[in-house]
Amino acid sequence: MKALTINQFGGPEELRIQEVALPSPGPGEVLVRIHAAGINPVDYKLRNGSMKLISGRKFPRILGGDIAGVVEQTPKQSFYRPGDKVFGMLSIKGGGYAEFVAVKEKQLCPVPENLNMKQAAAVPLASLTALQALKKQGGIRPGDRILINGSSGGVGSFAVQIAKAEGAYVTGVCSARNMEFVKSLGADHVIDYNAEDFTKGKQLYNKVFDAVAKSSFSRCRKILKKGGVYISTIPNNGVWFYQVFNFLRSKKAGFIMVRPSGEDLLIIADYIKKELLYPHIYKVFPLHDGLQAHELIETERVRGKIVLSVIS
Ligand SMILES: NC(=O)c1ccc[n+]([C@@H]2O[C@H](COP(=O)([O-])OP(=O)(O)OC[C@H]3O[C@@H](n4cnc5c(N)ncnc54)[C@H](OP(=O)(O)O)[C@@H]3O)[C@@H](O)[C@H]2O)c1
Repeated sequence: MKALTINQFGGPEELRIQEVALPSPGPGEVLVRIHAAGINPVDYKLRNGSMKLISGRKFPRILGGDIAGVVEQTPKQSFYRPGDKVFGMLSIKGGGYAEFVAVKEKQLCPVPENLNMKQAAAVPLASLTALQALKKQGGIRPGDRILINGSSGGVGSFAVQIAKAEGAYVTGVCSARNMEFVKSLGADHVIDYNAEDFTKGKQLYNKVFDAVAKSSFSRCRKILKKGGVYISTIPNNGVWFYQVFNFLRSKKAGFIMVRPSGEDLLIIADYIKKELLYPHIYKVFPLHDGLQAHELIETERVRGKIVLSVIS
């Protein structure tokens, strides 16, 4: 099969189309013919080697943690049948930038009827991060006041919609060019980070979700209500340290590490079916233009999501 691979760590130019062996499914795994693969910032961090302690150094390596496609082969006992449309988040091993992948059945979910394959591929990792941060870790409740920093990005755009779906009052933080977009996602209030420092405002929040990890707990604690929670997507700015001492404080600090979960994707699929959530696609690239897609994701300027089309 064709796959977009890297043979060593490095820049986007390391991405090459290569002929590789078809993956053979292990126990409990489904073979999926991939139609589209979502792109996330973690992909370029895996490519350039900044996550090699976690990812290991085995090459050739196929990147890509998000897929949507059609079931080709199932285990003996399976919920799925060949021909079913599925989407899912893969493990850190990746494998999404390819024509086929073998993936644990429990990481998959049926594609909602109101999404096409490219839209479905844009959903898993970023929406699961937002869901697991806000619902599971943050314990979001109706009426909560929530601030989402980086509300125009992949994670942030899903976080705004999930927080609204759960009945929160949402403040989004983004740059001026993305304010209308963030309002269109349902945010009640939007702050331009170049015009206003949100950590110095008078408004207090039950939760601050730093989806782009550009602020810190020490700055955000001032705008948290008593019992409030700060969650970041990257363990920087001392968040580990603050987390250890949560038991001493009424305002808590935390960090989310997203996990693949077909069960959680069912919750996401339900929001999508009810039209409470949709993926905004900024740009679609053919698989052989992975280099350009990686150059774009590294700019940190993507609005919503970008996707690789494997079958056009
Ligand atoms: N720990 C985990 O499990 C996990 C899971 C998912 C993601 N992540 C990490 O979370 C981060 C965000 O992921 P993502 O997929 O949302 O990234 P993304 O889609 O690439 O984020 C791009 C967005 O970030 C906004 N942005 C850039 N600088 C900003 C700033 N200073 N303040 C506010 N917004 C800013 C940009 O808007 P403007 O152009 O308007 O600035 C753009 O819309 C990445 O570092 C990623 O690796 C971690």
